[in-house]
Amino acid sequence: MEGYAKGLEGVIAGESTICQINGEKGQLLYRGYPIEQLAKHVSFEDTTYLLLYGHLPNQQDSALFRAKMRNARELGPQILDMISHFPEASHPMELLQSVIAYLSAYVEHRIHHGPTCNCRETLHQVAQLPSVIAAYHRIRNGLRYIPPQKSLSHGANFLYMLRGELPTEEEGKIMDSALVMHAEHAFNASTFTARVVASSQSTCYSSISAAIGSLYGSLHGGANERVMDMVDEIGTKENVVPWLEAALAKNQKVMGMGHRVYKAKDPRSNLMEEYLLYLSEQSGDMRYYDILKELELQTRKRMEEKGKPIYPNVDFFSGAVYRLLGIPTKLFTPIFAMSRVSGWLAHVLEQRMDNRLYRPRALYTGPEPRDLPSDLP
Ligand SMILES: CC(C)(COP(=O)(O)OP(=O)(O)OC[C@H]1O[C@@H](n2cnc3c(N)ncnc32)[C@H](O)[C@@H]1OP(=O)(O)O)[C@@H](O)C(=O)NCCC(=O)NCCS
Repeated sequence: MEGYAKGLEGVIAGESTICQINGEKGQLLYRGYPIEQLAKHVSFEDTTYLLLYGHLPNQQDSALFRAKMRNARELGPQILDMISHFPEASHPMELLQSVIAYLSAYVEHRIHHGPTCNCRETLHQVAQLPSVIAAYHRIRNGLRYIPPQKSLSHGANFLYMLRGELPTEEEGKIMDSALVMHAEHAFNASTFTARVVASSQSTCYSSISAAIGSLYGSLHGGANERVMDMVDEIGTKENVVPWLEAALAKNQKVMGMGHRVYKAKDPRSNLMEEYLLYLSEQSGDMRYYDILKELELQTRKRMEEKGKPIYPNVDFFSGAVYRLLGIPTKLFTPIFAMSRVSGWLAHVLEQRMDNRLYRPRALYTGPEPRDLPSDLP
């Protein structure tokens, strides 16, 4: 049928001024700024401001916004209680989704008074997700909850609350920069989910909770977890070639390589590689770096020979970076959520500025009209 595109592939489903991706050139820009510059020189808090307000903050706005974000980090006793009592076998993404829905009950929503929303004021969702993830990890491991520290950046505070000790300045910067790199990526499944929910004029908490649900799916978040499973399976640099040959012979994908949109190197992967090298040298453990570099080299060589060049995407090095920062694999997708929430909120606000309820049609492939059978039970 004309106009039908499975999975909406290639369909333009809305206008946006937030994020531009040029897959051929390997460019990613937030509000026109290249990701490499933002990730190196702008904090996650200022990046969030940029995404939510459309421009970088001046010094005064930056200080005010930072204070607001840091004041909102502390978890209330109800949330700590919820984390403690959440079913043992659950995944932390289910917890995040529930916490956001629950937090909503404590907020006076202003959505019905116009296209704006008070999420830029409360900043609950951006500020509290790292605290929830850190508290989840500690409580699940029989450790005490560490309250946030206002002197620390968003990324450094997360590491502090997770590990219970202050990170080095460099570790804090790397974590913050990794969050900047994951904060936004245009109309992917979770962001589109957030916008669809926003289009019905539901609350931004409903949008974010739904977006977390979408990111939880194995086709969206989680590639860096699978990269680390692969690295663990490979084990040594020497085993890269035999492992790769066996994998390609079975048509198995090399995790963290290739991308639907980027047909050049994902600009974020260069920075992630730089951070991995730094952390590996600092820790004296070059194993992950050596395996990944060899795997990149050998995969690119073989794929180029086949005339199908592929390059590392952001997930190729990020899992190893997180691991060297002391973050367990189970938290990789929640960390993606705690970063992407800034982009989701920006899209919710943008959707409301010029809203039209999403209502696509389905191509009906069911039975023709028919009468009920005469021998109904
Ligand atoms: C992301 C992904 C689904 C894109 O796949 P795609 O749209 O088919 O990519 P391309 O069209 O550029 O692929 C061209 C060819 O390279 C192959 N290819 C792509 N990525 C590959 C990978 N990681 N390992 C081995 N071969 C790969 C494809 O199978 C295809 O071969 P074919 O023509 O024989 O079918 C794919 O690269 C992938 O599965 N990567 C690993 C998972 C991953 O890192 N996901 C996170 C993405 S952010």
